[in-house]
Amino acid sequence: MMTGNKILLVNARLVNEGEVREVDVLVEGDRIGRIETQVSARSGWEVIDLEGRYLFPGLIDDQVHFREPGLTHKGSLATESRAAIRGGVTSVMEMPNTSPPTTDRKALEDKLSRARGRALSNYAFYLGATNGNLEEIRRITRAHACGIKVFMGASTGNMLVDDPAALEGIFAHAPLPVATHCEDTPTILANEDRFRARYGEDVPMSAHPLIRSAEACYRSSSLAVDLARRHGTRLHVLHLTTALELELFEPGSLADKRITAEVCVHHLWFDESRYADLGSRIKCNPAIKTRDDREGLLEGVRDGRIDVIATDHAPHTLEEKSRPYFEAPAGLPLVQHSLQMLMECHLSGEIALTAIPEKTAHNPACLFGVVDRGFVREGYFADLVAVDVNGGELVTPESLEYKCGWSPLEGQSFSSRVHLTMLNGEVVFRDGRLAKQPRGRKLEFEER
Ligand code: DOR
Repeated sequence: MMTGNKILLVNARLVNEGEVREVDVLVEGDRIGRIETQVSARSGWEVIDLEGRYLFPGLIDDQVHFREPGLTHKGSLATESRAAIRGGVTSVMEMPNTSPPTTDRKALEDKLSRARGRALSNYAFYLGATNGNLEEIRRITRAHACGIKVFMGASTGNMLVDDPAALEGIFAHAPLPVATHCEDTPTILANEDRFRARYGEDVPMSAHPLIRSAEACYRSSSLAVDLARRHGTRLHVLHLTTALELELFEPGSLADKRITAEVCVHHLWFDESRYADLGSRIKCNPAIKTRDDREGLLEGVRDGRIDVIATDHAPHTLEEKSRPYFEAPAGLPLVQHSLQMLMECHLSGEIALTAIPEKTAHNPACLFGVVDRGFVREGYFADLVAVDVNGGELVTPESLEYKCGWSPLEGQSFSSRVHLTMLNGEVVFRDGRLAKQPRGRKLEFEER
């Protein structure tokens, strides 16, 4: 039985499950009650006229770094989830490279208790793999984690898994989806030596895609795919950055795949030409690469080799980012603008409108087995986002919710803006105003 308030969203242009339909959506309590061409309002219902705005399922971002515990000078579960809600991202899956790292059940329980009552978005956490925690991995259940994160390349935090025997064990026995960061560390270290020999410590930021090279990505992604094929692992390769890696993946429906691929919005947006003006602001791992790579990744989104679009939201302070090449940390804050970036890609003809909910909500929900979210369906949770295309938004430092206070998109004028975000049946963002109460819930996952 559905109880609680009734909110009727009228005149929505619903973008969901491969089509665009003009509908009214009745929200009853925390769930979607009815989706019909027309629903007549009854007394006592709140009616919100969306005036033909697009309505999408709230985004499920399967790769964010919210920095808690231990790195809260960069961001926290409270601050970064505010940014998520403002951007229409209603659920996040958060990464384990915090301090201490999330490599056992106790650390997961600590994160879950920190998020309860403080996160504005729904949340789940990854268990981080190490060279030595296979027993923790084997014991973990869907009640605690969304997946197992394996840094097959060293990045922020000290979480590299490079022992071949450890990788075999993880791929053979992980009870949850394995999500990998793929960059071959020996290749990167050799490239670093070459650039150090030439420039000393003063390596230009434009060298980043040559140091964190396409070869480093391909070596590591192909190793992950090979391990997964041999062991039958449910593998999700995070943030692809090169056109070359796409040959490792198949087009087709996610339901038929054991091996899936992700791209992040910044790799669909920037290319290497932007190191000249943005420098370390776009330094991230894996690196933003060539124009051809960006175009290849967009093609991968279109042809179905890429299943998921996420952000890898990874805030660092501007002071940290202003350090020289080797000391400037990799990562950019993005979660507030992913939907607007994708709308821009759609409006310029690069991706289909229906690909946006498919890659940011339907597919992450199916891949991880999120219960009753990721689609606008009767009986599902009412996690929704309405988008205006008749009024854009300029990205300014004042408009940012991030603790770090900056964005690589400052000065960008988007053609669309988020008009309203609904979370578990409540309006939590509307017309520029965020609800104060944290309403995020823990994501639940299907037993498989
Ligand atoms: O650029 C990145 N930043 N890539 C990662 O893998 C980690 C992330 C971070 O945590 O800063």
